[in-house]
Amino acid sequence: MCTRSFFAIDYTANNLMKQYQVRNLNSGITFTVKEGESVLSAALRQGVMLPYSCKNGTCGSCKGQLESGEVHYPFHPPLALENSEIAQGKALFCQAAPSGDLVIQAREIEAVRDIQVRKMPARVIEKTLMAPDVMRIRLKLPSAQRLQFLAGQYLEILAPEGKRRAFSIASPPQSEDVVELHIRHVEGGGYTSWVFDELKVRDILRFEAPLGTFFVRNDRTERPLLMVGGGTGFAPLKSMIECLLSDGDKRPLHLFWGAATQAELYMHEQVKQWEHDNAHILYTSALSETSSSEAQDAFSGLVHEAVLDTYPDLSAFDIYISGPPAMVETGRTAFLDHGAEKRRIFFDSFEFGLDVPVRVLAKPH
Ligand SMILES: Cc1cc2nc3c(=O)[nH]c(=O)nc-3n(C[C@H](O)[C@H](O)[C@H](O)COP(=O)(O)OP(=O)(O)OC[C@H]3O[C@@H](n4cnc5c(N)ncnc54)[C@H](O)[C@@H]3O)c2cc1C
Ligand code: FES
Repeated sequence: MCTRSFFAIDYTANNLMKQYQVRNLNSGITFTVKEGESVLSAALRQGVMLPYSCKNGTCGSCKGQLESGEVHYPFHPPLALENSEIAQGKALFCQAAPSGDLVIQAREIEAVRDIQVRKMPARVIEKTLMAPDVMRIRLKLPSAQRLQFLAGQYLEILAPEGKRRAFSIASPPQSEDVVELHIRHVEGGGYTSWVFDELKVRDILRFEAPLGTFFVRNDRTERPLLMVGGGTGFAPLKSMIECLLSDGDKRPLHLFWGAATQAELYMHEQVKQWEHDNAHILYTSALSETSSSEAQDAFSGLVHEAVLDTYPDLSAFDIYISGPPAMVETGRTAFLDHGAEKRRIFFDSFEFGLDVPVRVLAKPH
């Protein structure tokens, strides 16, 4: 009896739930958005891969054009949208909820469409301090389980109280049953403090993966690659480079890795070895808090300045940027000013989690 009435209520609720149709002019695909859902969540639920990264309205990866219809922002404010962009009909699909049917223009990312997103447990098999504030964690997947992903994608650790924390996968997809993460300790950060102080080898973590649309594009392989990382922003770039090397991809690749001090370039020797062993790889490190006399072979300044110092014209490059939000945003803006093609800049901005108060998200960090 209880079961029957439960289903009766559920059925009625479903019938009453409002749904809107969203048509993407770029692909011709139509999907439905339920009340209380963002356009992005609904799209991903139905296998429509719109670009995204932070999912909290701060990075701008999911920005697209609203051709007709209206949206509102009931979740987080659309911090990555300027008022002028709203006036031009731009929307942030990770936060936008439809107020009626919509017609939009958004890029769709076909390469990740068929990869299943899964939740799985994993055992911590290594915890190594790589720099004063960077911990390398290696996770072993359950036996006979493999994680399919594209180099550059990230996972979300399912932390207590329903919180989630995103970390880029630093190992390449071919490393099969072990996943490597590079975790920077954030001052006052709940999860990263726990990782540094309490997490132990043999502990079990749960995560969801693979996520994100940051991966190497192969549609224009004649273009050289420029990779720009800040701090642990090196992690997804490491995965990409190891994957490209294993595939024998010989596109010219220049990695710029920036940090405040030399100690924070926690795999500097490994990267120099890649450069030494591969004629098509170049490496430049940039140190922002070290004077040029101390920096030896590094550029003295911010990492985007090192890029512009080497390549004042960026029109020929496919550019991949990852790291702290302020560094990603400054880099993107400067690179566009120096001829980079907007559609050929790909980025993952290491934004804070969804539960962090908006006043903290809004500050540059
Ligand atoms: C796509 C993506 C990939 C990422 N990849 C990596 C990676 O590879 N490596 C990496 O190190 N990081 C990465 N990050 C960042 C990571 O997900 C976390 O945001 C970061 O580690 C901080 O988590 P935390 O729980 O330690 O900090 P949080 O607890 O989330 O705190 C963040 C900041 O907000 C402040 N804060 C939190 N709550 C409050 C409050 N109530 N009042 C006032 N202040 C508050 C804290 O003091 C701290 O300064 C990535 C993020 C994204 C989106
Ligand atoms: S602003 Fe929407 S994914 Fe970052």
